[in-house]
Amino acid sequence: MRLKRAAIVILAAVCAGAGLARDVNAADAAPKGNGHNAKTPLYTVMDGNKVDAKTLEGWRTWRAMACERCHGASQEGLVGPALVNSLKVLTKDQFHTTITNGRPEKGMPPFGGVKTVTDNWENLYAYLKGRSEGNIMPGHLYPIPGK
Ligand code: HEC
Repeated sequence: MRLKRAAIVILAAVCAGAGLARDVNAADAAPKGNGHNAKTPLYTVMDGNKVDAKTLEGWRTWRAMACERCHGASQEGLVGPALVNSLKVLTKDQFHTTITNGRPEKGMPPFGGVKTVTDNWENLYAYLKGRSEGNIMPGHLYPIPGK
């Protein structure tokens, strides 16, 4: 009788362990980079340097505005903060407000009057989000064929 109860306890422990392992595997298998919303992915990336057309526009905006003068070519930070870290914390709204109004007293210029930025701020956000999530590599980007 005593032996049987011990066996049941062990069995329960093994089951709990198996359940945990399955959860971890499920998290690992989550799609990279486009898990924000399965229907409309924030960005799509292949091989780290090929992206969808909108994200490519975001990268072009980054280049055109020379944000790297202050934030570094790999968004690693210079006089401005490392955006690879900032984008992990800032909400999309906070990002929008910051680039629109700037923080002139702290050295971040306002881009709200620059059409390239007001037209492309969401693409810029997608690009920088992809950088901060480590799915998009620094450097030159290319279109995904057919996207
Ligand atoms: C002249 C230098 C300069 C340029 C050019 C510049 N920034 Fe900044 N940026 C800064 C500084 C300095 C800060 C930090 C302000 C502060 O202390 O709050 C900042 C802050 C930010 C933040 C908020 C980061 C955080 O952690 O709160 C974002 C987002 C940002 N910049 C994006 C951009 C983008 C996108 C561009 C190009 C369109 C750009 N910046 C161009 C200097 C610059």
